[in-house]
Amino acid sequence: MPDASDLPADIEIIKQRKKDGIEIPLQKNVQARATSNYLEHVRLVHNALPEIDYDDIDTSTTFLGHRFSAPIIIDSMTGGTPEATIINGRLGELAEKYGFGMGLGSQRAGLKSSDLAETYSIARKNAPHAFLIANIGGAQLAKGLSIDDARKIVQMVKANAIAVHLNPLQELVQPEGEPRYRGVLKKIAELAKEVQVPVIVKEVGSGISREVAIRLEMAGVSAINVAGAGGTSWAAVEKLRAESARNGPKSHLGDMFWDWGIPTAQSLLEVARSVKIPIIASGGLRSGLEVAKCIVLGASMAAMAYPFLRRASESRESLFAFADTILSELKSSMFLTGSGSIAALRSSRYILTGALAQEVATNEGRQHSR
Ligand SMILES: Cc1cc2nc3c(=O)[nH]c(=O)nc-3n(C[C@H](O)[C@H](O)[C@H](O)COP(=O)(O)O)c2cc1C
Repeated sequence: MPDASDLPADIEIIKQRKKDGIEIPLQKNVQARATSNYLEHVRLVHNALPEIDYDDIDTSTTFLGHRFSAPIIIDSMTGGTPEATIINGRLGELAEKYGFGMGLGSQRAGLKSSDLAETYSIARKNAPHAFLIANIGGAQLAKGLSIDDARKIVQMVKANAIAVHLNPLQELVQPEGEPRYRGVLKKIAELAKEVQVPVIVKEVGSGISREVAIRLEMAGVSAINVAGAGGTSWAAVEKLRAESARNGPKSHLGDMFWDWGIPTAQSLLEVARSVKIPIIASGGLRSGLEVAKCIVLGASMAAMAYPFLRRASESRESLFAFADTILSELKSSMFLTGSGSIAALRSSRYILTGALAQEVATNEGRQHSR
């Protein structure tokens, strides 16, 4: 007997949810409203004597054994609805042409039908050489998704890595959400041991704390994507969905926790100071200057979701023009800090100001007093 969640009606519900997941961020403002990513509190130090030529600047870097032309990843977004095919197709083209990494959206839907699997695998078709990251939810792992299914998910896009997303806030606000996280860490450890590609654990916009990062490192994960607060808010997306479903209590929760989470720069700093595994910075990054700031703070790579989605939904030209803009902003930041390479950028000096400086000082004070 098929699992209840394999019924055709259930596939239709998943498709609709995936469609909402693209349309709401594109049509409504679901960005953070009362917090920022805190990167405005990071100042890079100007170098008046850079001693490099702009054209000689090398933005290439290595992450998890793969060479990238720049430390940039198109963060995990979509699949599982016909509307995603065009988006993933264009994002795949971008990743291939520009040497960026790319994450797919949660692929549980792709396990249910081969038609839906194609909404993801189009990315690999268009990006035969790019670093692609498969995606699955922590809540699904806790619920019993098998290692075999995880392998199928990797195989679906011939992925170079698999990301497990932790989205407790979204599960809490989502009208049909499953806020059940008991046993997730054990499942992640099992996955890290059994699956043939590196496991990346990511948030989706509320950030990773130092305590969580340490537990993840001990569980054997290969990298962490902090995906902090300050950008797309999944509490906001689910609040709007709850409103349409006339679910007052969920809509109220989404409103209350719209800006919940650890701002990206704060999350990045505390994770970078606590673990040795590489870090991807994400959550509200909107420019090449912000990418540069994240590298200086200790990230190996920087990722953006919504900015790529918006341009990919407009046109291929708009998407590629955006990539050119962020690359030129990144290179300019490197020139102005006298950094000829990503390694040099990583070791350049920064100054923390405002709320971020205060949070860091408070946290350090707390650690010393223990
Ligand atoms: C339309 C959209 C769909 C997303 N779907 C997923 C997903 O399926 N799996 C996942 O791990 N993260 C997902 N995310 C979260 C992003 O990967 C990212 O962590 C978060 O949006 C913060 O980045 P941003 O502020 O640049 O959008 C999604 C984000 C957007 C905008």
